[in-house]
Amino acid sequence: MDVLSQKVQELMKELEPKFIEDLHWFHENPEMSFKEFDTTAYIRKELEALGIEILDSGLETGLVGYLRGGEEGPCIALRADIDALPVTEESTCTYPSKRPGMMHACGHDTHASSLLSAARILAQLKDQIHGSVKFFFQPAEEINLGAKKMVKLGCLEGVDAIFGLHNSPEIPLGTVAVKHGALMAAVDRIEITIKGKGGHGGIPQRNVDPVVCAAAIIQGAQTIVSRNVSPIDSCVISICSVKAGEGANNVTPDSVTMLGTVRTYSKEVEACVVKRLTALVDSICAAYECEGNLNYIYELPPTTNDEALYPAAHEAVTSIGAEPVDPIPSTGGEDFSIFMEECPGFFYWLGTRNEENDCVYSWHSPHFKADERCIAIGAGTYAMSVFKAIEHLSKK
Ligand code: NI
Repeated sequence: MDVLSQKVQELMKELEPKFIEDLHWFHENPEMSFKEFDTTAYIRKELEALGIEILDSGLETGLVGYLRGGEEGPCIALRADIDALPVTEESTCTYPSKRPGMMHACGHDTHASSLLSAARILAQLKDQIHGSVKFFFQPAEEINLGAKKMVKLGCLEGVDAIFGLHNSPEIPLGTVAVKHGALMAAVDRIEITIKGKGGHGGIPQRNVDPVVCAAAIIQGAQTIVSRNVSPIDSCVISICSVKAGEGANNVTPDSVTMLGTVRTYSKEVEACVVKRLTALVDSICAAYECEGNLNYIYELPPTTNDEALYPAAHEAVTSIGAEPVDPIPSTGGEDFSIFMEECPGFFYWLGTRNEENDCVYSWHSPHFKADERCIAIGAGTYAMSVFKAIEHLSKK
């Protein structure tokens, strides 16, 4: 083992009590998206105590810390999201949320504390950094707006590569997912409006029924997945909300509105969905004498790891003694992908699953619980990513 990896591993052990103290504070004090004021104040205070500069980012919540290394070189950004969810905690965690109706049910507290812990490690190894580090404590991931805001404010300026992570209850504690290509899906929103002509439900010949038309569109949309997308590729189309009428059993409504979500991993599959869904809505509506409108909204691109950063990411994980694993991707989305569109990026999953202490529940569950021993591994992964990325980028 090289000296640096050894030093990072020593600090992971030595500083762990402090890491856990941070985690407990974050977990007990969850805050909603763009309302992370106390969380930001806590992080600011701790970073300042470490001698890390807080940049004037223009963010109201969340912040960007900056650490200049011992020599000039590439700038590596490390990103953690910090917001919580409107969920009432029902987990067996011994330090539960103190704020009613709010919970770190997606475990962003583990991300915030892993990154703060990485700052604690890197501040001690500052002279060995041949470049600089930007610490992105990002607000509002849950509403898909935080990364967009940071990009708009220019936080990525001068950044050569960015690393991020999300906890995962799907992979065991002690492992870190290091994946080639797409780890999480593109997230698109669909809004379909069908206009017919309402009237008496018992006298259908005088109406143009948008409900029957909507049913045909719902059925037809599933044939895109089964008949148009290659069986080797993956795609989800879910119509999740259908609104028709005001509750009467005998009134045909004037219109129907439907909301849905589309998940894909490639531009080609996404383009296929847009093309086929547009054709289906247009032609089914025409066949049923309705007027149809599809509003297709691109919310998030897929989280696709940069191939050139893969060796650095893999080495970062092995060098701290964690086990790299190759997971099945998730059809969930992640707004880290917004950064990836602007800058080479790599996203990990941090294993938090442990059946022995109830750390098995999925993201957003009121029972969600992460094994707190993941924080040292998260911190080490973030910290070593800086050293390994600088090493690889400098070789180019
Ligand atoms: Ni999350």
